[in-house]
Amino acid sequence: MAIKHYLQVSDLTLDEYDYLMQRARIIKDRFKKYEPYHPLLDRTLVMVFEKNSTRTRLSFEAGMHQLGGAAIYLNTRDSQLGRGEPVEDAGQVMSRMCDIIMIRTFEQEMIEKFAANSRVPVINGLTNQHHPCQVFADVFTFIEHRGSIAGKKVAWIGDANNMLYSWMQAAKVFGFHLHISTPKGYDIDPACVTVEAEHYTVFDNPSDACVGVDAVNTDVWTSMGYEAENQARLKAFDGWIVDEAKMARANPEAIFMHCLPAHRGEEVSAGVIDGPQSVVWDEAENRLHVQKALLEYLVIGKVDN
Ligand code: CP
Ligand code: NVA
Repeated sequence: MAIKHYLQVSDLTLDEYDYLMQRARIIKDRFKKYEPYHPLLDRTLVMVFEKNSTRTRLSFEAGMHQLGGAAIYLNTRDSQLGRGEPVEDAGQVMSRMCDIIMIRTFEQEMIEKFAANSRVPVINGLTNQHHPCQVFADVFTFIEHRGSIAGKKVAWIGDANNMLYSWMQAAKVFGFHLHISTPKGYDIDPACVTVEAEHYTVFDNPSDACVGVDAVNTDVWTSMGYEAENQARLKAFDGWIVDEAKMARANPEAIFMHCLPAHRGEEVSAGVIDGPQSVVWDEAENRLHVQKALLEYLVIGKVDN
């Protein structure tokens, strides 16, 4: 099989996602029943982290272990990447010693350069522009709770960040519509928008964006790498909290989604994130299951059982 990377949501087709979700359901079911995983994926994953992580590191590391393989953690501080080794050289070297690589970094350009020099598949574990593994898990979670996402409406309330750009790509792949509301000065960056305007609608007022939607989604107001803007963002995002009043404008069956980590009292009220409409813990857990299906698919291809 030709090398396939997963650098953004649009790197896989709807058919591939359908296969992967079906496979992830089998993998999840077996995990819950303590059944052995097969076929064994006795290979090595290298994980490169240039930013902090709890969920991404745990889900990839535990997932690879459960598949029968090994995961090696590298960070900027301990590896030569932190001392300026060219990304192209790192791609050449690392990919000769393992079977698949996951990278969390700042610019998407870095991961694309790395992948262009890699002999093995590369997975994006978050960049400033994309977070495809999380949005894959989130779409899987939506479907688990509410069935097909095709034709549904999903609100994005808050920052125009990596999660939003991946959700925009998902809207096109899976055929749903996004209602986007971001504060002035923090609007979507046309350079990061890769889908046609028919897949989303922009609202000035965040409450209006929630009307009639099937899911309300938000994320931190200050993403990793933007910490210097935190105070300015707290002011600019005033009014963009997802609270009970905004959830009341959505469909009664609407779910609340957040990739975590969360800040109660900023982007979401405690009542919403800890309330009955919230599916945030399932989103986090599903990272493990969908990524195991993804690792298996990228390393060995489709399997029958
Ligand atoms: N949602 C997510 O990617 O979490 P971490 O930053 O903890 O990996
Ligand atoms: N947008 C957030 C997501 C964290 C998982 C960030 O980039 O920090």
